[in-house]
Amino acid sequence: MDLASRSSPRAPARLPFTAPWLLAPMEGVTEPCYRDLVLRRNPADALGGAFTEFVRVSVASIPRAVISRHLGPSRFAQPVGVQLMGNDLEHLARTACNAVAAGAPLIDLNFGCPAKGAIAGCAGSALLRDPRAIERVVRSVADAVEVPVTAKMRAGFDDASRVEELARAAEQGGAALLTVHCRTRAEAYCESVEWSRIARAAAAVSIPVCGNGGIATHADLERMRSETGARFAMVGRGALADPWIFSGCTVSRGTAARFLVEYAETMRARHQWPAGGIAARIKQLLRYWTAGGLVPDAATRTAWLRERDGAVLLGRLEVIAREP
Ligand SMILES: Cc1cc2nc3c(=O)[nH]c(=O)nc-3n(C[C@H](O)[C@H](O)[C@H](O)COP(=O)(O)O)c2cc1C
Repeated sequence: MDLASRSSPRAPARLPFTAPWLLAPMEGVTEPCYRDLVLRRNPADALGGAFTEFVRVSVASIPRAVISRHLGPSRFAQPVGVQLMGNDLEHLARTACNAVAAGAPLIDLNFGCPAKGAIAGCAGSALLRDPRAIERVVRSVADAVEVPVTAKMRAGFDDASRVEELARAAEQGGAALLTVHCRTRAEAYCESVEWSRIARAAAAVSIPVCGNGGIATHADLERMRSETGARFAMVGRGALADPWIFSGCTVSRGTAARFLVEYAETMRARHQWPAGGIAARIKQLLRYWTAGGLVPDAATRTAWLRERDGAVLLGRLEVIAREP
């Protein structure tokens, strides 16, 4: 597509989400194996959509084949948006076109990553210091593709004093939806959350807002909407603790263990060998896991996490997975 071809503003494209609850993009977690298992376990009227891990766009555009790997082989009723992170307008726009060619139903832009590398490269949360840059990035991508372009930002860089201005910048750039992670870059992943910042952003714009940060239970999803005015709610670590959080199902210990066993089997079957090995990915979930009473107390969690032999860990899970 000729990137300069569209000059006049256009109405934001229709959002393809099937329900108001969304699975957050999480680098090192929401790759296709894990994401597909969560999508398969939550009906489309409970979990409305998901995102890839962020795809870093820096010195060149990212080819379609790479984006296809992020999208994975399975398709669901729910859309999986491709998340891009960068600041080079042309490389981002071309990558977004490649993502659409790979089948992406929407593009999400990352204005929240607090990692030192992202900030040094003036990407992710670094752009929170310059609302005009956010507007430019969103516009360059929204002008390049026909699918909806969404933005995900933190409430601010050092503090949340400019959350309204940042939200309006995303809206003016042409975002069809704005996700607000209520922590600032400085707050990293601190435990306390101020949802009032999401309410401030939602009141400042007319596009739909998605509230994110600190959702730990199924009931919190609706509470996020009623307390903030956000139309959507996004769950990150709450879904690592309980992949059924979107539907609100209570599962047995056996069902919980079967999720983890199937995750390991899926990685093996798809020849996905994460850094640190398959057991490291399972442990990453066990660090947060609450579903099914599989990790009833801190001592059990420590025991699971201290197990050095991945085969032993998986063997234990397989035994529990035979329970009803
Ligand atoms: C392991 C991990 C990886 C993450 N990777 C991304 C990412 O790739 N893109 C992004 O926008 N946010 C990323 N985040 C932030 C989450 O999407 C979410 O905004 C944050 O965890 C707050 O939500 P929560 O309190 O429900 O976990 C990540 C968070 C975690 C814990």
